[in-house]
Amino acid sequence: MAKPVTQFVCSACGATHKKWAGRCDACGEWNSIQEETPLSMGPGAKGLGGMKGKGMALTDLATEERPPARDGSGIAEFDRVLGGGLVGASATLVGGDPGIGKSTLLLQAAASFARTGLKVIYVSGEEATAQVRMRAQRLGLGDSPVKLAAETNLRDILTTLDTEKPDLVVIDSIQTMWLDTVDSAPGSVSQVRAAAHELVSFAKRKGVSVMLVGHVTKEGQIAGPRVVEHMVDTVLYFEGERGHQFRILRSVKNRFGPADEIGVFEMTGGGLAEVPNPSALFLSDRQARAPGSVVFAGIEGTRPVLVEVQALVAPSSLSQPRRAVVGWDGGRLSMILAVLEARVGISFQGLDVYLNIAGGMRISEPAADLAVAAALLSAREDEALPATCVVFGELSLSGALRPVSQAENRLKEARKLGFSSAIAPEGCKITDGADMDLKLMPDLARFTGDIFGAG
Ligand code: TYD
Ligand code: MG
Repeated sequence: MAKPVTQFVCSACGATHKKWAGRCDACGEWNSIQEETPLSMGPGAKGLGGMKGKGMALTDLATEERPPARDGSGIAEFDRVLGGGLVGASATLVGGDPGIGKSTLLLQAAASFARTGLKVIYVSGEEATAQVRMRAQRLGLGDSPVKLAAETNLRDILTTLDTEKPDLVVIDSIQTMWLDTVDSAPGSVSQVRAAAHELVSFAKRKGVSVMLVGHVTKEGQIAGPRVVEHMVDTVLYFEGERGHQFRILRSVKNRFGPADEIGVFEMTGGGLAEVPNPSALFLSDRQARAPGSVVFAGIEGTRPVLVEVQALVAPSSLSQPRRAVVGWDGGRLSMILAVLEARVGISFQGLDVYLNIAGGMRISEPAADLAVAAALLSAREDEALPATCVVFGELSLSGALRPVSQAENRLKEARKLGFSSAIAPEGCKITDGADMDLKLMPDLARFTGDIFGAG
């Protein structure tokens, strides 16, 4: 008889190892490896053993398929991120740091869906029903016909769902759910994986949409959501800085719509409020004509968003000057500093550099390169850009400026918010300049020379 085998699983990436180690070879994460009894390798497990199944149905690519029907929640920012509303029998994961507002968001969404006539069940594994009810009343949702339960045993949950046949179930959170057939603690990778698998296959089989809440810490320490990402149709991340009131719901994967779409919310005393015009909000605290401040005309998903890029450059007392970034990629900052030094001879040696995206926004678009370079130069030269100017463009290592997509959309949004000039790469496709004063630049040398008289 085979001995019970245990294996070691990385909670960040799900890779399995024969031995415990402090660091996962597969993803490089520290302290993420946990001991587990694998699902299919306990004593007596035989695999399929050569037995025949009942086969599967094959169809053609040409089979007629209509776009999926969608239900709107009435919260426009939420529906937008889903790709235009909730798709029936879909599975969605909403991940985010603890305390960021996932339960609040999903309770509000559940209540909204219920008000449109969907049958909605909200299952909390973290709070008692009285707590959820109190929160709902505080959010002014007390009259919404959502059904509540506080339960963590998935067998009991699925039994009720099977008889109730709701349209939507919210599970808050996947880390608290457990199956009595899996021999490890709730929150472990095996439990989270098995629970998510049960819920997702239930959704597909019974035509019920499920939304799973998943906690992730910045260090990826808590087990689960990464392995769940592959099972679900849609992965949304709810992000924001704890000290800021802005929250951004971002789709990182969506089988039914565009990825990278964002919805913007504000956390208020009465729950999450929609922010229909994020650009105005992100720019609301901006000091016009401050050195180091540049407005970047970005695109998030399908929507243009203006954000302020702030840089501070100061003499350093350290032998290894500081490079600190909030809301952008640190590696990309080093690259831009290197390009400035190598291609236009502007050095940041002996200078501390701080870069911040205002409002708690996180940007990953390469189109922000030129705005970052402009903010760095502006801070270093202590010279402000015109207050009415927006900047966008990708920087290549040669110092050339690469055109970016959707230039006209970026300009239109800038125009709408009262900006009258723009600096952009020469190759951008712009047939309708939207009445803007355009400065199109071929490379970084022209840019530094024309705008800052440097280089
Ligand atoms: P919560 O939804 O419980 O976060 P998560 O489920 O992601 O852990 O929200 C937690 C924070 O939100 C909490 O610190 C208080 C704050 N909050 C408000 O500011 N206003 C509100 O109306 C609510 C319900 C919460
Ligand atoms: Mg919660």
